[in-house]
Amino acid sequence: MHDEDGYFDERVAARYDESAAEMFDPAVVDPVVDLLVEHAGSGRALELGIGTGRIALPLAQRGVPIHGIELSKAMLARLRAKPGGEDIPVAIGDFATTIVDGTFSLAYLVFNTIMNLTTQAAQVACFRNVAAHLEPGGCFLVEVGVPGLQRLPPGETIRAFHVSETRWGFDEFDVARQGLISHHFEIVDGRLERFSVPFRYAWPSELDLMAQLAGMSLRDRWSGWKREPFTSDSRKHVSVWEKPV
Ligand SMILES: C[S@@+](CC[C@H](N)C(=O)[O-])C[C@H]1O[C@@H](n2cnc3c(N)ncnc32)[C@H](O)[C@@H]1O
Repeated sequence: MHDEDGYFDERVAARYDESAAEMFDPAVVDPVVDLLVEHAGSGRALELGIGTGRIALPLAQRGVPIHGIELSKAMLARLRAKPGGEDIPVAIGDFATTIVDGTFSLAYLVFNTIMNLTTQAAQVACFRNVAAHLEPGGCFLVEVGVPGLQRLPPGETIRAFHVSETRWGFDEFDVARQGLISHHFEIVDGRLERFSVPFRYAWPSELDLMAQLAGMSLRDRWSGWKREPFTSDSRKHVSVWEKPV
């Protein structure tokens, strides 16, 4: 199913920027970078799951010294091929356990990537690993969806999240295990390609508890990058936990 690069192998990496094109739109990226610049202050930032540099490259251009952790050499190769991509130090490994030199004022994990850790133990380890890398007063910022269970009719396990002429996406829920497999189907060059990734979803409150286990506490929770309020209707959250001074 997948190799040492995880689910973001050569085939996925080759098309990542194209298939996530709407996430590269400056209208999406700019508010992310603005908030991250503010939280990094005059310190260094660490991106977990840095990928092809969608956020890291514009953040570096804004003058924030940035490091990354990334499992997939195929994704890293795409970052390296971009202008400025050679200048960002990246450790290859699992961000739940990989240690990099020095401390950071900001660590961040965007685009639902915390859910790529498919066990509670791995997610807890990730919070602990981040806390160990933060300076006192530093913060961990996560962007992730609120589990979509309110939109899953009782007894059903599949929900469409994208339907268009050439692309279809279905989430398959395993409610008993907080498991979710996102199935992506896309017509590429006249052929149907499939990409299925397993996730573990978690409620905001469970993430707060993971932060607490790692010695951090919630500073802010918004529903978007422009500090929109988080409400019962919010479909995602941008949360910031801080390490005590
Ligand atoms: C959805 S992509 C996001 C990439 C980038 N952060 C962005 O916003 O475009 C998730 C990335 O996290 C990486 N990743 C997933 N699980 C990981 C893990 N346990 N350790 C390190 N990297 C991981 C994947 O290889 C992939 O590059």
